[in-house]
Amino acid sequence: MLDPAGSEAHRLAGVWWLLLILATAVALVVLGLMVVALFRRGDAPDAEVAQGSPERDNRFIVVGGLVMPVIVLAVVAVATITSTAALRQPRAEEVAVEVRGEQWFWRIHYTGTDVESANVIRLPVDRPVALTLRSEDVNHSFWVPSLAGKVDLIPGQTNQLRFTPTKVGRFRGQCAEFCGLQHANMAFEVEVMDARAFDRWLAGRKQPPDTPASAEAREGRRVFASSSCAGCHTVTGVSDGDDGPDLTDFASRRALGAGVTTNTPAHLAQWVRDAPSIKPGANMPPIPLTDQQVRALVAYLESLQ
Ligand code: CUA
Repeated sequence: MLDPAGSEAHRLAGVWWLLLILATAVALVVLGLMVVALFRRGDAPDAEVAQGSPERDNRFIVVGGLVMPVIVLAVVAVATITSTAALRQPRAEEVAVEVRGEQWFWRIHYTGTDVESANVIRLPVDRPVALTLRSEDVNHSFWVPSLAGKVDLIPGQTNQLRFTPTKVGRFRGQCAEFCGLQHANMAFEVEVMDARAFDRWLAGRKQPPDTPASAEAREGRRVFASSSCAGCHTVTGVSDGDDGPDLTDFASRRALGAGVTTNTPAHLAQWVRDAPSIKPGANMPPIPLTDQQVRALVAYLESLQ
């Protein structure tokens, strides 16, 4: 959060630095007064210490205990209230994306299109973004520290998160509300792209994936379409299952199972055979396939860019 790459994160980092500076100043003043008090006590004759000066003590208490804290807290209040008001304001020409938290992955839908994905959100740089956050099972929380503050996904409620990404790059996101056994493995990635690259990517995603080049991958597509995979997963133009994550651009994802491991052919083969052995509690059941069918299926899925 101290390396902001989005408008909302910049605001929050500003408030954070203000709080740090004020808290440091207050701590230094208080520690300084303690040091002064220690030395004073050592110098003064006992009688003077015992008697003190009521007038000076009262002034010190009113200024140090009342006036100063009111000024410091007023500065903090104004900064946080104006920052809160500035966050999440609707802007013109927003890129709208719907995000649904599920145990335990993120379902991504680009509003106004049929384009879906999972665990990776692509966004254009320097364009305002509006994310609609929903959940149908339990509470989750959407947090990409580099881009914006945390917003909960609550069943029965629709929340909004608005910000403008200001840097191209990949930013890690993580579910930030305990949501069950695999809460820790409910990670995602936001890929902020050059705006024209984003438009090209979205236009390309509206088309079904090309026919795989290799015979093995084509065989894998046949296995996919005729096995239980197709009942739960969508690949545009091939299947329309909607229990599990959309796999149309599966090969472009760097992780499997919302961040539980890296997306390599070996990990994918194990995932297909027995996903709960990698991610206990995951809903995907073990798929009874021959080794040859698994190899073909892996070749197919790793061709889906
Ligand atoms: Cu979803 Cu924690």
